[in-house]
Parts: sequence; C-alpha cells; structure tokens
Amino acid sequence: MAEKISFEAPRGMRDFYPEDMAWRNKVFDAFRAAGEAAGFEQYDSCVVESYDLLARKAGEEVGEQIYHFFDKSERHIALRAEMTPTLARMVAQRQKELQFPLKWTTIAQCFRYERMTKGRKREHYQWNIDIIGEDSVLAEAEVIGAACDALRRMGLSSTDFKVHVSSRRFLGELLSKSGIDAGKHAQVFLALDKRGKMPDAEIAAMLRDGGLSDADVAATFAIMDTKSFAGCPELEELFHLAEIAGFADCLQFDIGVIRGLSYYTGVVFECFDTKGEFRAIFGGGRYDNLLTTIGGEPTSAVGLGFGDVVVTELLKSRLGADAAKSRKGVAVGFMFPEQRDAALKLAARLRRGGECVNLALRSQKPKKFFSHADSGCAAKAVFLGPDDVERGVARMKDLATREETEICL
Ligand code: HAM
Repeated sequence: MAEKISFEAPRGMRDFYPEDMAWRNKVFDAFRAAGEAAGFEQYDSCVVESYDLLARKAGEEVGEQIYHFFDKSERHIALRAEMTPTLARMVAQRQKELQFPLKWTTIAQCFRYERMTKGRKREHYQWNIDIIGEDSVLAEAEVIGAACDALRRMGLSSTDFKVHVSSRRFLGELLSKSGIDAGKHAQVFLALDKRGKMPDAEIAAMLRDGGLSDADVAATFAIMDTKSFAGCPELEELFHLAEIAGFADCLQFDIGVIRGLSYYTGVVFECFDTKGEFRAIFGGGRYDNLLTTIGGEPTSAVGLGFGDVVVTELLKSRLGADAAKSRKGVAVGFMFPEQRDAALKLAARLRRGGECVNLALRSQKPKKFFSHADSGCAAKAVFLGPDDVERGVARMKDLATREETEICL
C-alpha cells in the first residue's frame, strides 16, 4: 500500500478553500480598485528570480529568509521575497524607453522562510504600488493615499488604522548632529528597527558592535524620543498634502518607524491597527538608490508593499468572520428526473440574460435543495416540481427576505 501523504500544505504555505477565496477576492478587489482609481498601471513577473538580484546586505533579516536552490543547469535561483528588486530590474532593463514617472502596481506572491507568528506566513500575496522617477513628496502622498483608500474600500476607517511615518534622512540628520557619522547610520537603522521586537539592552549591544560609543548609544536612544518633525521639510510637505487630499486623519509621526530593508533613503512608513493587536498592515518608503545599486541609471523611487495576511485577520476581527460572503445569482433545482430538462432550459435562459446560475446536478427533495441553497452563495432560488412544469410557471424565492415572485418557464 502507498505511504500516506500528509493532507496539510507544507508549513507556512496556504490553501485557499472557497471561504478563504471570498476573503482573498474582497482584499484583492480593493487593491485593484484603489490602484486603478489612483492611476497605477498593472505589471507582473515570474516568482522565480536569479539569487544574485535578491541577495542582501548582511544584517537584513529578509536576506536570511530567501528560499533558494540550484536548477538542473546549476543556476542559482530564488523565489522572490518581495517585488521591489524585480521591479528595479524590470525598470533598469527598459530605462531608455520608459516614460517617467512610472506609476506601477501588482499583486505579487512572495515567499519568506519566516519564523511563523501571528500575521506571518512563509507565503503571502503583497500588493505593491510604486512611483519611479519622481522626487516630489506628492509621490509619497499618492502611494500612501492609495493604500488608505484600499483600506476604506475594505470597510475600515482611520479609527481602525494609522500610518506611522518618519524619514530616514531626518533621523540621519539628527544622528549626525549628535556626532554619529554617516558611515555608521545604516547599522544604526537596522538595530533601531528591532526596537519593540527585542529588549533595548540587546539593541544597545548591536549599536556598540556597529562602532558606537556608550555616549553615542545614549544619544541615539534620546533621539528616539523625538516627538516633533519640525525642521523636516519632506514630512511637513507630506502632512500638508495629506490634509488637502483628505487622509491626514490616517497619518501620525513616529520616529520609531525605520523599516528593516536597507534600501530606503527618505520618508518611511508603516501602517498599524489602532488597537495594536496585529503586525504591520503595510510598509514602504522612498528608495532613491536602488536602481544604481543594481547597475541602472540614478532614479528616484517610492512605493509600498501591502500584504494580504494581516489585513484579512484585521478585517475578520473588525467586520466579522462572514463579512466577505456575498450572495448573488440564482440556485435552480428540480424534484424528479422528469423536470431536469425544464430546469436546464431555465438555467440556460437566465444565464443568457446575464444571471449567474447554480444548477442542481440531480433531483432532490425541496427541503434538501433549499437548505443547500441557504448555506450556499446564491441570492435567489427556484425549485421546479411536476406542477410547476405543467403550468409553465415557477416561484423565485429571495433567500434573504423569503419573498416569492412568479416567473414564466
Ligand atoms: P516589507 O515591510 O518587508 O516591505 O513587507 C511589506 C508588507 O508585506 C508587510 O507590511 C506585510 O503586510 C507583508 N508581509 C511581509 N512579510 C510577510 C509574511 N511573511 N507573511 C505575511 N505578510 C507579510 C517590502 O517587502 C517592500 N518591498 C515594500 C516596498 C515596495 N517598498 C517599496 N516598494
């Protein structure tokens, strides 16, 4: 006898049963609608990349989480952990032909060998929106505004979430003013990004390993208490633009937002639920040097990645586990095999008229048909018995209101 195979998906990978697809579609529909409403064009690529493109600087967590392998021709291949390096590669490849600024969007399946915690899987879908080739803060305002719009389309408001914003450039300036030279900033950023995830004593040790003196470490922690962004022109501009566009209520300044990826150069942001129950809903920022680091022409860029996992958990908790279920179309059933053809004919006619029809595949008792229809996703139901077919009329039942209307067969 064959050995029994586990019915579970590999650890951290996800199956989408129909009820899960209902949630995924609700979330993806909001992503697509918000992207389209803000004028972003769709693009895509394969989930497989060359490892060299994705390999990271030491200290970046995502670098240790990359799934990679050698193919049969000994090519070093990896599954993408995020879309941004691929986007940079695609832009660099056509840099001479493309008309900048680009506003591009995609929903990318990404893989990270994560330690599994709430909100973190080894596979997730990530909505990306990026503007390439624009220095102005209006680009930041447009990507953050579009992400807030997606959350609103899903049924959440600014009381449910806040986008925490800061600027790495501003933080760098504060560090420099305290005498910590720019060459050490990248290390400081990576260490500070761990705040809240590990004790401050360990972060202090990381900072000392990065070459900071005890006085520098104390100065760095003091900077992390900064409550005002006065003197940071890009944040002043961003809050001004958000006010005009109508999403300033979704923003708050938070010097503690650093981001774990080293390519960010300016404004950085992360969105959290206001009750503080979940991991980051989305995150992004300005990354003006990424194209040059892969060999492209200098090009400014700003964008974000918005995963499906955390937001779905948040929506289930705020809107209820059934909130993604929507009823539409008609269930059609019949009592005896003699009514089968009439039922099929009715289904075909309704479908030609643009209706979605779920036709029962065998005869059944009315009680069974209606209980199945009630637990399914049709909005209405028609059941044909011998009398209905003889009279040439049937009753269409609204499954929510239980109201019946007569229809001609
Ligand atoms: P990230 O912060 O690494 O940024 O990921 C962005 C979002 O993807 C997170 O806020 C979260 O919603 C989701 N996410 C990441 N890892 C996981 C996981 N293991 N399980 C579930 N969800 C996850 C980036 O990836 C940047 N490339 C975003 C970006 C685009 N920056 C500029 N453009």
